[in-house]
Amino acid sequence: MPVISFASCKGGSGKSTSALVLACELAEGADVILIDADPHQPLVAWSTMAPPPARLSVVSSKGEREIQDEIDVAARKAPFVIVDLEGMASQLATFAMSESDLVLVPAQEQHQDAQAAVDTLGAVKRAGRTGRRDIPAAVLLTRTKAAVKSRTARFIAAQLRGIEGVRVMNVELNERDAFSALFSSGGGLRQLDPNEVRGIDKAILNAVAFAREVVALLKEARK
Ligand SMILES: Nc1ncnc2c1ncn2[C@@H]1O[C@H](COP(=O)(O)OP(=O)(O)O)[C@@H](O)[C@H]1O
Ligand SMILES: [Mg+2]
Repeated sequence: MPVISFASCKGGSGKSTSALVLACELAEGADVILIDADPHQPLVAWSTMAPPPARLSVVSSKGEREIQDEIDVAARKAPFVIVDLEGMASQLATFAMSESDLVLVPAQEQHQDAQAAVDTLGAVKRAGRTGRRDIPAAVLLTRTKAAVKSRTARFIAAQLRGIEGVRVMNVELNERDAFSALFSSGGGLRQLDPNEVRGIDKAILNAVAFAREVVALLKEARK
C-alpha cells in the first residue's frame, strides 16, 4: 500500500537509479509496482532488457492527468508502489507527491544538488498544504564515496543536515558500478554477472540497508 515517490527538480541526481534499487530490494520480499512517470521512460526501457525480478512490475504513466488514478490502482494491488519522476518541477510531480506516503529526494553531495533538494522539499511542503497534510520527505544522498569523502562532500552533507526541517536519510547510496550497470544489463543486482561487474556484494548490502531505512521511515510516518 505505501507509495514512495522519488523527486528532485534537477536531473541526474540519482532518482531513477535509487528508485530501481529500492524497488528490486523490496521485491525480494513483497510485490512492488514501479510507476515510470518520466517521459523518457528509463525504467520501462530497463524492464525490456532482461526479465525484472519476479515480484516487480513496471508500469508506464500516461502523464499528469492519469498519475493519481494510476497510483491509486497500483496501491490497491501491491504492498509497495514506487514512482520515478522527471527531474523538474511539474504538475505531474506535484500530483504524485500529493499521493505519496514518503517522498525521497536524491541528491549528490554537490552544491547544485543540495540546492535542488531544498527546493524540492519546498515543493513537497506546498503539495502537502494543498492536501492539508504533512507529506513525509527525506533527502537521500547518492553517489557518495564509500571510502573517504572529499571536504566538499562532507561540507554539503553537514550543511543539509543542519537545515531546520530537512531530514537526511542515515543510509547513503554509494557510487558503485553495480548500480549504474543495472541500466545496461537489465534485471536486479542479484542477476548481475560478478565476472563483469565489481562490488556486487557491497552494492547489495547498501541496497538492503537503504530498503530497511525506507521501511522504518514509512512506519514512523504512519504513527
Ligand atoms: N549510486 C550510484 N552509483 C553509480 N552511478 C550512479 C548512482 N546513481 C546514479 N548513477 C548514475 O548517474 C547518472 C544519473 O542517474 P539517474 O538515476 O538516471 O538520475 P536521475 O533519474 O535523477 O536523472 C546515471 O548515469 C546513473 O547510472
Ligand atoms: Mg531519472
